[in-house]
Amino acid sequence: MNDVEDPVNARVFTAPAPYVPLPARIAVLLSGRGSNFEALADACASGSVPASIVLVASDKPDAVGLERARARGLTAIGLSAKELGGRAALEARLIELIAETRADLICLAGYMKILSPAFVDRFPHRILNIHPALLPSFPGVHAQEQAVRYGVRVSGVTVHFVDSGTDTGPIVDQRAVQVLGGDDADSLAARILPVEHELYVEALGKVLKGGWKVEGRAVVLP
Ligand code: GRF
Repeated sequence: MNDVEDPVNARVFTAPAPYVPLPARIAVLLSGRGSNFEALADACASGSVPASIVLVASDKPDAVGLERARARGLTAIGLSAKELGGRAALEARLIELIAETRADLICLAGYMKILSPAFVDRFPHRILNIHPALLPSFPGVHAQEQAVRYGVRVSGVTVHFVDSGTDTGPIVDQRAVQVLGGDDADSLAARILPVEHELYVEALGKVLKGGWKVEGRAVVLP
């Protein structure tokens, strides 16, 4: 880990440049169809992000995203909390898989299970998440529906580091998406999704480049 002890402000974390040895080794966790995973996988395959996906894992053994990963020849593993004996056992297995595959970073891509503080604390500034709203507005599930019901005119996408709260970690990047009259949760989600794909790839590139700091809860890019 690269935590830099700063005597003036102990809450400053400074990332080296590059952040991790390149090409970075990425683990992707997903629970569903995996379109964000595919965007990351495409970016890795084309070289637009200097990384390779070494593990795709899911808490849903039947997740479509796992099939999509296997079709790309990637290691894709479904884990059932029920079969393993609960969330702690599932996370223990994930930690083993991450160690075995020597993943440097974990990208959550529609991973719907809350990660425990014990898991998150093990990977400080090493877990990224994508959220389909402009945080801190509309955290949690059904963000697009929350936005439509609230009546906001602008929502969007956030990529952030994961801390032990729900969608509360330091923000790497955001992009706005307009909410149109007549939008429902589905139409807004459909307009937000391609922006998610673009932003996740860009944000991952920035994180890998390194040279950024986290001061308090603000990510300061170089
Ligand atoms: C995305 O909207 C993501 O932001 C949210 O869950 C959805 C997952 O979609 N957390 P996909 O599985 O990546 O297609």
